[in-house]
Amino acid sequence: MNFSSLTRVVTAGAACLFLAAGTLHAQEAEKETDPYDKPYIVEDGKVDQGTYNGFRRYHSSCHVCHGPDGLGGSFAPALVDSLKVLDYDKFTEIIANGKSEKGASGQRVMPSFGTDQNVMLHVADIYGYLKARSDGKIDRGRPERIKK
Ligand code: HEC
Repeated sequence: MNFSSLTRVVTAGAACLFLAAGTLHAQEAEKETDPYDKPYIVEDGKVDQGTYNGFRRYHSSCHVCHGPDGLGGSFAPALVDSLKVLDYDKFTEIIANGKSEKGASGQRVMPSFGTDQNVMLHVADIYGYLKARSDGKIDRGRPERIKK
């Protein structure tokens, strides 16, 4: 085998590996969420791990004011409605910094969670869960997880 045919064989081999790696990556990517493009995965009414985590985090830190299942309460607005207009960046900004509105009925305050790791580390999951609720993809209550 001369040098140029050896080069061809090596190049073809590398191209195969490259293609194989590309396919594998694409398959994995389908199972991954991204807060901007694809904040949640719902299959047959069941959710991915992140969305399930979002459900849990929401119900431990937010539902006392925002009501169960994101439906709103007497203290704070329904986030299933808010997420029809709030994007991920705005959502994260409000949770990190809080928000307060002075109105005729007094002041309602959204506390800042900027230093609360139980919330800040899971903001993308909380967003995913609420977005799935807001889009009408999951019902009220604890969602089932997609079996691996
Ligand atoms: C102590 C009560 C309380 C808790 C706990 C709370 N919030 Fe809020 N939140 C509020 C109030 C009150 C507002 C409305 C503030 C305003 O409009 O100025 C609000 C507003 C918001 C908004 C903006 C809604 C909109 O339509 O503009 C988002 C997003 C939000 N909260 C997310 C969360 C998340 C996520 C959590 C849990 C990590 C959480 N909140 C926990 C009281 C709370």
